[in-house]
Amino acid sequence: MAPFPPSAGQLVDLNQKSLLISALSIAFNPLFWNIIGRQEYHNKVLTKLFGGRSQTACYALAVTIFSLGLLRDGLYERALRHQPSYPLLETTEAQCLAYALIAVGNILVVSSTWALGITGTFLGDYFGILMDSIVTGFPFNVTDAPMYHGSTCSFLGTAILYGKPAGFVLTLWVYIVYQIALSYENPFTAGIYAKRDRERAAAKGNDKKSR
Ligand SMILES: *[C@@H]1O[C@H](CO)[C@@H](O)[C@H](O)[C@H]1NC(C)=O
Repeated sequence: MAPFPPSAGQLVDLNQKSLLISALSIAFNPLFWNIIGRQEYHNKVLTKLFGGRSQTACYALAVTIFSLGLLRDGLYERALRHQPSYPLLETTEAQCLAYALIAVGNILVVSSTWALGITGTFLGDYFGILMDSIVTGFPFNVTDAPMYHGSTCSFLGTAILYGKPAGFVLTLWVYIVYQIALSYENPFTAGIYAKRDRERAAAKGNDKKSR
């Protein structure tokens, strides 16, 4: 007997392997870019791989992360197709909400990429490609992590669009994974910029002394 026999009217079918695969790919992506990012920061692995061209290395990582994101989205939609539907989510109102959430999610993701640029979005600071100053305009004045919150919003919208309660479970998982990622990334990047500011201040000090 299966550990979770499917029954009529059930909300989430835990027997579907695609659900687990989707959950794993959701967790894998931030894990991947944090491990690679720190390897780059400490040992310059990607920059060395690209013959000392850190800009090129960062673009290559950006393409890889973006592709992994597309794969993750594909696996998520496949998982949803294997799951039971819930009629209340298939109403016109729910479907409108779904489109609104996906639109908001995409606006947050696209506008934050626009504001940060490719290297700013994809771990450029780990490569020593730092932003001149902190970006404070939209979308950073509405949420502190527009990339992650926008992505979470799109996951939620897609769950409703497909009418699948299992999507809520995976969206909650996305949220948790991103919160954990932020707890690692925020202090780390803050440290990178604090170091830059100390070096700038020191350089200014030397400048004054030499005059
Ligand atoms: C955020 O900044 C944009 C300009 O970049 C501005 O138009 C918008 O009103 C600001 N929103 C909030 C909530 O402060």
